[in-house]
Amino acid sequence: MKSAKDYIIFPLDVASEDSAKDWVKRLSHHVGMFKVGLELFVRTGPALVRWILDAGEAGVFLDLKFHDIPATVSKAMSGIADLGATFATVHCGETSAMLKAAVEAGRKKVGILGVTVLTSVSGADIREAGFCSDYSADISKLVMKRACMAHAAGCAGVVCSGQEVAVIKKTLGKDFITVTPGIRPAWDGVSADDQQRITTPAQAVQNGADYIVIGRPIRNAVKPSEAALRIADEINGVL
Ligand code: C5P
Repeated sequence: MKSAKDYIIFPLDVASEDSAKDWVKRLSHHVGMFKVGLELFVRTGPALVRWILDAGEAGVFLDLKFHDIPATVSKAMSGIADLGATFATVHCGETSAMLKAAVEAGRKKVGILGVTVLTSVSGADIREAGFCSDYSADISKLVMKRACMAHAAGCAGVVCSGQEVAVIKKTLGKDFITVTPGIRPAWDGVSADDQQRITTPAQAVQNGADYIVIGRPIRNAVKPSEAALRIADEINGVL
């Protein structure tokens, strides 16, 4: 049975192996998964992923956000599939062929999540990137288009904001996994930082999110493990 803490994915957005290991030791009883992203992976490589998994308390979400020609994505994802991570990411913004290559190479050993539109991206950014006004006026339309591409390609789910979860679940079914970053508790003193399309932990889970990625509100808290517990309590309140 999934408990409230299992919804929480803590991103190890730190630059050194020692710091990452400290955070894993500190939070492994309070979160379900650790997210290893580019910042850390370029320094530590797969060894740190194995170390977290060997510690045995939490899973790993390997968020390398692949975006390349299908052959390259396939070869890279094939290596990831052997690592034991629960999820790995690929951008939905290119082609179905790239998404399918990731899914096939994942060989069901790792859940492939399509990154729809980053939660740091605004309508103005979308317009500047050359998308039609339909998408810049309503980003959720672009998110939905990309979620449909990911679903059709056989991805396990998508990364999207908590604001888009409900419509994705309604359209693509409850088994299609949604992972939502851009989470900010409504506590005093919590900043939105660079995130644009934010929701609280409770709102995201109520909307149907299967997992929430929440970093700075925990990392910058005076007592990070208490912040994680408080977030789990908030989630419990809506389960
Ligand atoms: O909670 P916080 O804003 O600190 O979380 C930032 C993390 O969420 C980073 O690791 C970032 O890569 C990740 N992320 C994101 N937006 C996405 C996908 C992942 O902010 N769409």
